[in-house]
Amino acid sequence: MTRREHVRGQAQEHSHAPVKWRYLVLPAGNPAHRLHAPLASPMRILGVETSCDETGVALYDSERGRQRARDGLLAHALHSQVRMHADYGGVVPELASRDHVRRVVPLARRVLADAGLDADAVDAVAYTRGPGLAGALLVGAGAAAGLAFGLSVPLIPVHHLEGHLLSPLLSHDPPEFPFVALLVSGGHTQLMRVGGVGDYMLLGESIDDAAGEAFDKSAKLLGLGYPGGPALSALAARGTPGRFALPRPLLKGAGLDFSFSGLKTAVGLLVRKVGSGPEVAADIARAVEDAIVDILVAKSLKALDQSGLDCLVAAGGVAANATLRKRLGDACAARGARVHYPEIDLCTDNGAMIAFAAACRQPRQAAGAGYDFSVAPRWPLMELGLVR
Ligand code: KG4
Ligand code: ZN
Repeated sequence: MTRREHVRGQAQEHSHAPVKWRYLVLPAGNPAHRLHAPLASPMRILGVETSCDETGVALYDSERGRQRARDGLLAHALHSQVRMHADYGGVVPELASRDHVRRVVPLARRVLADAGLDADAVDAVAYTRGPGLAGALLVGAGAAAGLAFGLSVPLIPVHHLEGHLLSPLLSHDPPEFPFVALLVSGGHTQLMRVGGVGDYMLLGESIDDAAGEAFDKSAKLLGLGYPGGPALSALAARGTPGRFALPRPLLKGAGLDFSFSGLKTAVGLLVRKVGSGPEVAADIARAVEDAIVDILVAKSLKALDQSGLDCLVAAGGVAANATLRKRLGDACAARGARVHYPEIDLCTDNGAMIAFAAACRQPRQAAGAGYDFSVAPRWPLMELGLVR
């Protein structure tokens, strides 16, 4: 009996057994490229991401990724809904869900074709269980469950932020554990101490808006449309630094929490005072970007100081920001620390990070997992406890 037949046989016999997860934990200092070494059984995992406005699918081979994690990524494909939502100035959840329905299966087909494999080569299907938009998550979860059931392979729920957090391990310059992670996306801004896969300690987080939200809301006030972050950043590149002063809440002091809602209010007041015409827009954008980047850099350095670590990782959509990358790079170099990022195309939402996060776990009874699925639109990362 081949391994595949064995897995299928068990899946049929125990299809209603509860899902139990086991995290692969590495000792501190272990190189990340040996991530799968001791525990994980070889698996080709199809990852499905549909938490917001991007449909992402990827195929990850944990055997190929055994030496260098990035070698395990066989193929990934993405469809961005940006153009569809642009007319509405933001994500319309109902439209997002409907579009995911149209995209998931064709993207999965494309990924398999790109990898030169057929569906039979898939050993497990992973999906983003949360956090995210409930309807959008349900589409990915339902599609993944259907695929897994059809192929009689295990179904693996993945935490979206864990995907972002581990995505730098897929880069050409992967970090080593332990590290401090700055997670900056459209919905989250968190600093975390990461001791290994599943070993996460929250050091600080935003008490109101996320950094991505600050970019997006400021962009909206400047009439830049959606998505705001990249547009505001492009405009800021032409702006004069220091022409407008904006607040940097919670910058001073030892705490590692963030606050960005006051910045949005200040931008609103500034735009009311000076307008958002071509003679001021780039300078306002520059002031916004500088304020957000100043805060993110200062808190990240404080987190390194307080944790005694010298390795920083920045992940999530805002980590694609060129000014943030430059400033974090310079600040870390000045103190002998290193900073690591996912490749630019894996900074924003994608299926690769979902397939990879699933590969970093070890289903205790992979073949016995059932096909019931659930989504968790609000799901604190800290709920992912260690299971040894
Ligand atoms: O991680 P992500 O794709 O989705 C979430 O999980 O939220 O992050 C999206 C966020 C948006 O707020 C977007 O404006 C921001 O990341 N973003 C950027 C840049 N690229 C994406 N913000 C600033 N500069 C960028 N280059
Ligand atoms: Zn995300």
